[in-house]
Amino acid sequence: MPVNLKGRSFITLKDFTTEEIRYMLNLSKDLKAKKRTGSKEKVLEGKNIVLLFEKSSTRTRCAFEVAAYDEGANVTFLTNSQMGKKESIEDTAKVLGRYYDGIEFRGFKQETVESLAAHSGVPVWNGLTDLYHPTQILADFLTVMEHVDKPLNKVKFVYVGDARNNMGNSLMIGAAKMGMHFVALAPKSLFPSEKLVAEMREVAKETGGIIELTENIDDVKDADVIYTDVWVSMGEEDQFEERIKLLSPYQVNMEMMKKTNNADALFMHCLPAFHDQNTVVGREIKEKFGLDSMEVTDEVFRSKHSVVFDEAENRMHTIKAVMVATL
Ligand code: CP
Ligand code: NVA
Repeated sequence: MPVNLKGRSFITLKDFTTEEIRYMLNLSKDLKAKKRTGSKEKVLEGKNIVLLFEKSSTRTRCAFEVAAYDEGANVTFLTNSQMGKKESIEDTAKVLGRYYDGIEFRGFKQETVESLAAHSGVPVWNGLTDLYHPTQILADFLTVMEHVDKPLNKVKFVYVGDARNNMGNSLMIGAAKMGMHFVALAPKSLFPSEKLVAEMREVAKETGGIIELTENIDDVKDADVIYTDVWVSMGEEDQFEERIKLLSPYQVNMEMMKKTNNADALFMHCLPAFHDQNTVVGREIKEKFGLDSMEVTDEVFRSKHSVVFDEAENRMHTIKAVMVATL
């Protein structure tokens, strides 16, 4: 069946079939190749896009902007709108839908992005909420396709750390959809919700995937990918002390990479990462808790295993594919 995503919103990967996700990954590959050839063909000429941000961003904002400009679209970056303060999300959606061909939203509640999609009448793209970060997953899987010499459904993908955050949730959904062997390695209190796990195990039954939850670090054995994210996500900044206690045993270090028993295992991270003290927060953590790094050591971050900047680049190519496919 041919895939047609025109007019669709991109709110969570749950809404997409394996074929549709594969289509977006292949389109990303094509658009990446097209950019490399220097092609001047622009497929979003005349389109207007608004980028609504409640939370900070480097990659997502810049990826949307550059992707839009590459394809000839115009962009408004909006951080101080009336939305939620003096104007409801519904009313804001109705206004923005009259100006723009597509809306990107990054913020707190998943309900906000859903409401924008329900009321704007144009495609809405989730640039991260507390619950999900679906555009990141496309970039991550494209990176795996480029670096692991196996189809996605043969890949063992271990996500270490806060497995119930937006990244843990979205990677599990993406992995289930693509039939991967997904392992969430975390303390029990940070496992993804039982409801989401049950739902994704049902999906995995169809796709041949495996969804495993474990507290045992030895389960990284034979991993193709070790993936981690920050221990404290945006909006949870009061939880550093508790998370450091819970997650210190789960830091990605060389010892963990060796436990994979795979010399070619990839290290992945959506970024930003706390791997040194070259940040305000990194220095505060060093002062308060004596840690040189948090979720990943500087050694692993800078090692031959690490493909984090390929992932970051792929945000742009994959976000471009989402816009091109849905517009
Ligand atoms: N990975 C990611 O979403 O990065 P930003 O927060 O910089 O957008
Ligand atoms: N879990 C992180 C992802 C950042 C891209 C956060 O929400 O802050």
